[in-house]
Amino acid sequence: MRRFRFRASIGVPVLALVLAAAGGVMAATQSSDEQALQPTRQSADQAIESKVSDLLSKMTLEEKLEQIQLLPDFMVTEDEVRKGLGSVLSVTEPRRIRELQRIAVEQSRLKIPILFAFDTIHGFRTIFPIPLGAGASFDPQVAFNDHKYGARESAVVGLKQTYAPMVDVSHEPRWGRISEAAGEDPYLNSVLGAARVKAIQGGDYSASDKLVASPKHFVAYGQPESGRDYNTTDMSEQRLRNLYLPPFKAAIDAGADTVMCSFNAINGVPGCGNDYTMNRILKGEWGFDGFVEGDWTAVAELRACPPKLPDTGPCGHGVAADGPAAAALALNAGVDSEMTSTLIRDFGQQLLAQDRISMRRIDDAVRRILRVKFRAGLFEHPYAPVAPDKAEAEMLRPDAVAAARKAASRSMVLLQNKGGVLPLDPSKKTAVIGPLANNQHDMLGPWWGAGRDTDAVTVLDGIKQQSPGATYAEGCKLSNTEPPTTDPEGCGSDAGFAEAVAVAKAADQVVLALGETREMSGEAAARSTLDLPGRQEELIQAIKATGKPFAVVLFNGRPFTLEGVVDDAPAILDAWFPGVQAGPAVADVVFGQVNPGGKLPVSFPRRLGQVPIYYNHEPTGRPCDPEQKYVSRHRDIPSCSPLFEFGHGLSYTTFDVSNLQLSSSTVSKNGSLRASVTVTNTGRRKGDEVVQLYLHDPVASISQPVRRLRGFERVTLDPGKSRSVTFTLDKSDFGFYDNRGKFTVEPGQIDVYAGNSSSASMTRSFTVRG
Ligand code: BGC
Repeated sequence: MRRFRFRASIGVPVLALVLAAAGGVMAATQSSDEQALQPTRQSADQAIESKVSDLLSKMTLEEKLEQIQLLPDFMVTEDEVRKGLGSVLSVTEPRRIRELQRIAVEQSRLKIPILFAFDTIHGFRTIFPIPLGAGASFDPQVAFNDHKYGARESAVVGLKQTYAPMVDVSHEPRWGRISEAAGEDPYLNSVLGAARVKAIQGGDYSASDKLVASPKHFVAYGQPESGRDYNTTDMSEQRLRNLYLPPFKAAIDAGADTVMCSFNAINGVPGCGNDYTMNRILKGEWGFDGFVEGDWTAVAELRACPPKLPDTGPCGHGVAADGPAAAALALNAGVDSEMTSTLIRDFGQQLLAQDRISMRRIDDAVRRILRVKFRAGLFEHPYAPVAPDKAEAEMLRPDAVAAARKAASRSMVLLQNKGGVLPLDPSKKTAVIGPLANNQHDMLGPWWGAGRDTDAVTVLDGIKQQSPGATYAEGCKLSNTEPPTTDPEGCGSDAGFAEAVAVAKAADQVVLALGETREMSGEAAARSTLDLPGRQEELIQAIKATGKPFAVVLFNGRPFTLEGVVDDAPAILDAWFPGVQAGPAVADVVFGQVNPGGKLPVSFPRRLGQVPIYYNHEPTGRPCDPEQKYVSRHRDIPSCSPLFEFGHGLSYTTFDVSNLQLSSSTVSKNGSLRASVTVTNTGRRKGDEVVQLYLHDPVASISQPVRRLRGFERVTLDPGKSRSVTFTLDKSDFGFYDNRGKFTVEPGQIDVYAGNSSSASMTRSFTVRG
């Protein structure tokens, strides 16, 4: 599952070290340790608190430092477990989990169970669509089901924590990890992130089919400069609080009890050495009383790299002189559990003796970890709910597979459908062409959990189930060598085009399955172009030349630049990476069993040079106008817009969203009002529309985004039917954070826009009273 990861080796000499306090990244802040050390949120559970205190009082320093340690599969030893190792990640084999747990609860001195964690990002074995795809569903139930079954299958093997949901808002399509969350909008990420947490944890994550959730990556990891993973981020306080923090807050409010801090630096301060974001905001302002784990070797990466680069392991940020300094910085800034590197464990004793960390803080970190373990019910039920040899039978159960199929079809976005090419008629002869047509591997997308290629149903097989005589040609190959070599983008040769054309000519209609390999998205998979990789556009042109009706189905973990494709292909359906039920779900939509209703959770630029381009941008003093010169535009693009805007998506029927009404024309700062619209299916098929509500504050003390999504609802309507949809708006919708980090509600006009994409033009206004 995980590819080669370098191992932390921490044999650095002890140097001296003044550790500048982690320091605030934004406005100067005093250390927030004190604030962060006060448990608040759920400490009402006194029984757990006293059990934790009791256990803590019996622990040696060595045992406490072991509790803080989180080791991956290849580093765990039975000896370490006997010493009291806290957590393990990425062991998924149920027998091994059981054996390690047995050693922990039978042979370690205090018998504290291990917390087993894994990246169940969009399914454990029953792989659902990637989270960007689920974002396109605009349906919290899709996100919920993904993690409901993901948690059930994970729990069966003995896991009790998942490193999900990923809720990193991103305006950066070059970044491979844009695939892992719900795209460019904080509100959509908040709603779906909260649904995921609720599905993972339920009301009580000690239940046998529940885990503790760990929203990540705290914080602003979604905005790396140039889109290169792990790269630095520099941003204003207001952006941090208005765009990047809200989905985390929503996840915490939904009950998430662990959080992962991020690799990236914000304004020069790395996520896992950041007192301001972890201590002050998360643990202080939000009263989070669970624990924070550092991302993979992120604690060691705080260190400066030595000039001659001997093998010292992870390093780079240069905010700590050496290993001990990094350990002190991370712990003091709020990291409670160290993943993969072992600096806090190795240097804890020394740091304590030197007064660079306190016993109070060590106890606080351990208390947080133990609190979560008690809440998880691990002391009463340390083992998986089923025996290891029964686990396999719990995988890919029919209810999970059916939910995955539904989630995949609800995630698909019909970008274009000129001449109503789609849906195709299954009784006609269908050719399925393209490098992703007969492909299981890529359908699972990045972060495929414990999924297996052989579990996935190909597009070809899915189409054949509904259009039995379907034929096939590959057209070209997408390579998936890792790291990329001479032909990184694949589809470098047109040798197979002639066969593809012949197969198309012999059929009545063509489904062209194109896109990225799963290796092109996800972690460490930034791309410098957003084009369809390789010569796939030429393949489209070759199929177009046959004159056969055809639809392009795209598989991708990020937006593409599709200017050429929209000219050549009459119909384009974006299927993202759909998961194990890729083929049946694509067939459902292509043949019209399911009417597509997904909407883009991220803008599709016309050209790469527009990036970052996002609907929720701030205005300028020279708004874009393609007819003018001294305005904010690209001179070589005759348009100000993306190719497909956030919220765009077509259907096989048509909808009208009308009659925007506000329940009041004024509202007090603490009051609320309702906005309602009528949505009507004006076409001839049953279908789904996502009604979307946006706000704009035209005059504020700091420029407000031209639109902000504040409400959406996906509705299903029969032809000719109407429904009224109502949204309630309050200060959380019309207020904002300023650059001092203060939430403010300013008097004045607020414009409301409603419709079926971010370019909706129907508008009304109300006034917030002073
Ligand atoms: C990723 C995390 C992931 C962790 C453990 C890291 O490289 O950034 O998202 O949870 O590995 O697999």
